Amino acid sequence: MKGIILAGGLGTRLYPLTHATNKHLLPVYNSPMIFYPIRTLVSAGIDEILIVTSGPHAGHFIRVLKNGKELGVRHLEYAYQEKPNGGIADALLIGEDFADNDSLTVILGDNTTDADISSQVAAFREGATVFLKKINNKEQIRRFGVAVFDKEHPDKINAIEEKPKIPKSEFAATGLYIYDKKVFDHIRSCRPSARGEIEITDVNNIYIRKKMLQWVELKGFWSDAGTFETLYRANVYWANKGGI
Ligand code: DAU
Repeated sequence: MKGIILAGGLGTRLYPLTHATNKHLLPVYNSPMIFYPIRTLVSAGIDEILIVTSGPHAGHFIRVLKNGKELGVRHLEYAYQEKPNGGIADALLIGEDFADNDSLTVILGDNTTDADISSQVAAFREGATVFLKKINNKEQIRRFGVAVFDKEHPDKINAIEEKPKIPKSEFAATGLYIYDKKVFDHIRSCRPSARGEIEITDVNNIYIRKKMLQWVELKGFWSDAGTFETLYRANVYWANKGGI
């Protein structure tokens, strides 16, 4: 199992903060944001990691992370997404050579969690695993991919809808996924969405249609940190916890 952290995009929702550096290097309490997804992967036993980044500040990562040894990364690679807002799946496609037919745990660079995913990583064989989180707030959940469950079999996921106006459940797709090597063929079969991005939700829906997607409820704290509100929320949580 290898790990990929997607840290591209332009971070426009955090302007003016992201004029000076990449969103994923902004502080979350005592560490740059990207330390958190790295820690999630390393704690799950994944120490071969690719960071995909983009935009004008891509070079800043190397100064902060160097070869990743201080964070427990045995092998750290960097890749550059030419189209900075091509979409999450477009960024993931760049990792095909790095993956080299291995399975992958993928995490969005602005997601922070204290959940332990090592058992799902160890148990993974094929298909895809997505991690869902219950969000009670109707306004908040509309910003995410939202699971649609089968009416007759409430444990069965029928689809994920990206940023739905009317969410059909309280379960959001977090930015944490495990994929087999087929993910790259599935990405290639996707077309850009209305917002011009290759959507990871479309990739997950392909796995659902093939009956190859499992879901797990993510335990513990989870938040993205890509808006002022969520960046603040993540800072408060990790400050109370004493950081990582
Ligand atoms: O945080 C979970 C949510 O992340 C999911 O519920 C959604 O299904 C998923 O689409 C995504 O939604 P966002 O709209 O919050 O994604 P955002 O555009 O903020 O991108 C999240 C991270 O993905 C970002 O920190 C870096 C990476 N990314 C994003 C884009 C658009 C890339 O590496 N390249 C990209 O082109």
